[in-house]
Amino acid sequence: MTTTCSAPGKIYLFGEHAVVYGKRAIASAINLRTTATVSESDQTTISSILGTTGIDYMAHPYISRCIESLAVPPVSVRINSDIPVGSGLGSSAAAVIATLGALNVEFRLMMDSVMLADVGHRIERDVQGSASPTDTAVSTMGGTMLVNPGVSSSRLRMIECDIVIGDTEEFSSTKELVGNVRILHEDYPEVMDSIFDTIDNLSGIGTLLIEKGDYRSVGELMKIDHGLLDAIGVGSAKLSRLAYAARDAGAYGAKITGAGGGGCIVALVRGLGTYASGGGADAVASAINDAGGRAIITKASEDGVVVRETF
Ligand code: PMV
Repeated sequence: MTTTCSAPGKIYLFGEHAVVYGKRAIASAINLRTTATVSESDQTTISSILGTTGIDYMAHPYISRCIESLAVPPVSVRINSDIPVGSGLGSSAAAVIATLGALNVEFRLMMDSVMLADVGHRIERDVQGSASPTDTAVSTMGGTMLVNPGVSSSRLRMIECDIVIGDTEEFSSTKELVGNVRILHEDYPEVMDSIFDTIDNLSGIGTLLIEKGDYRSVGELMKIDHGLLDAIGVGSAKLSRLAYAARDAGAYGAKITGAGGGGCIVALVRGLGTYASGGGADAVASAINDAGGRAIITKASEDGVVVRETF
């Protein structure tokens, strides 16, 4: 049998880094997806743009861990992705969840979506050393989610306006940035805790604004979050250049998304129909490109992990 599953990448509206310290975060699945095709085989192989290997923790750590942790028979896994790697868009979580989803169907493992997200989170933690449940929860469930670590994850009203991502095309190591923030937290616990508490408040107020569809105010809070992420040392001149270019072109708000350092910014942009007044996705995307980034116009996605085909 052969099974194909796909799972989405994500953007953070609020709460990256603070979520590692138990604070609330809001993230949304986007229309960029990773596909995993699995079939039972005489030997285990993993194929991606990085080449074809067996179980190999250097080339394919996440997929190797998925196969070993489910203890499935020999299998071939092929990964295809439209999500740029190491850019804060959840490429590893999407690959993990798509692979677990496909293995789940192929070998009739009967895991429900809560288990899938849970196993996926454990795999991300094993490979990276630390990881919040955000990426795997959003990639499994889809939509826009409020993640309250260790307490609950719940679906919010889906973000309905356009989303423009600005990729610095500079590699971002989540592990390294989380480590740098940890050192700052050890050195200045009161300062860092009060910043994380403020970010937690942004997620709380952001939840109410998203439910109302008040994206102008959500954008205001995103700008505040960008400043706080800069304050904890995960910003860069290029990230800020792209964020300001997006804002100047009329975005409601723009901020770092994900671990920072390099990677991407995310801008919320008024949707189709209001372009006449400027500030639409095309204008924001050109401003990001002109500022030296690579713009990707996308939308929030209702779909989490989905089985594409089984035969
Ligand atoms: O860069 P990403 O997409 O891996 O996001 C990292 C977000 C952090 O909060 C910094 C870490 C985490 O595991 O949530």
